[in-house]
Amino acid sequence: MVDSERLVMNKLRAGVLAALREAEGFVSGQRLCEELNVSRAAISKHVGELRKMGYDIESVPRHGHRLISTVDTPSDVEVCQYLKTEIIGKQYIFETELPSTNSYLSDMPLRDCSDGMVVVADKQTAGRGRMQREWYSPAGANLHFSILLQPKRSISEIPQLTLLAALAVVKALDSAVPQVRADIKWPNDILVGGRKLAGILCEMQAEADAVQKVILGMGINVNLATKDFPAILRKLATSLRIEAGVAISRPHLMGEVLNSLDAHYRKWLEEGLDPFLPELRDRLLLVGKRVRVKAMGRDVAGVVQGLSREGGLIIKDGTKTETVFSGEVHVE
Ligand code: BTN
Repeated sequence: MVDSERLVMNKLRAGVLAALREAEGFVSGQRLCEELNVSRAAISKHVGELRKMGYDIESVPRHGHRLISTVDTPSDVEVCQYLKTEIIGKQYIFETELPSTNSYLSDMPLRDCSDGMVVVADKQTAGRGRMQREWYSPAGANLHFSILLQPKRSISEIPQLTLLAALAVVKALDSAVPQVRADIKWPNDILVGGRKLAGILCEMQAEADAVQKVILGMGINVNLATKDFPAILRKLATSLRIEAGVAISRPHLMGEVLNSLDAHYRKWLEEGLDPFLPELRDRLLLVGKRVRVKAMGRDVAGVVQGLSREGGLIIKDGTKTETVFSGEVHVE
């Protein structure tokens, strides 16, 4: 099926689901046909597809269809009920399994790309983190997604998007899971109590000095229990469920994160990083700590002073102060 057909199909499927969700009880096939302007056969087909996706829908002759239970999958039909975005998620691709959502968008020809397109995979078989690390991406528990952005900005400003995305995620968590306080380890880690909750992988494709694609990939550990993490990650990583003590709705969280990203991104396009600096500084970890930053052959050690106006990390060693714009921070 070509992508445009799939979008129309998914819109109808989302429409059927929305009508079933809104109804108190049964919705007649006739009403669904009229509301969505399609045939009865089309309605039956979409109800069947929704069942295959895990929705429990009761169908009774002369009564119609009734939604009994939904699913926790961050698919388009489920997440769209929460979306209030203007740029991000207008095109939303959900796959049960992909090697990596970042690679998927990276390989996508430019002519098929649209600004703000989102790709989500329930499971990734080759999820990637920074520094060629693997990103653990099992099915049914977490959020793994990438957003394609095409900002008309200079290449030097693009690294700011990692910090902006980190702030947007942390603020979405503030409202979706207020009992959990997440902070930012510059530039791309989101930590709770010193353990990694989420990570951001920002990749860019450019030609000459023009940005063609920015791919903002995010992995958020949502519902994994400690025993579900590989042994090597158990002391280093955490999940919202571990921290909050309750399971979190992935579609709702996904909606909140995309809404927050969209609002932050639109403001950044207009005003740059300046308006976000106070909040970023408030959520920045490691200020006052001695660190070593390894960046592109450079090795900068010293005490973290804070964030520069451009989003760099200011490090002071004795009388020498340096600002780094990329790299991996190690606490000494
Ligand atoms: C990191 O902390 O090193 C970044 C982790 C980024 C993981 C996400 S999961 C979705 C997207 N697809 C990938 O292959 N990686 C990013």
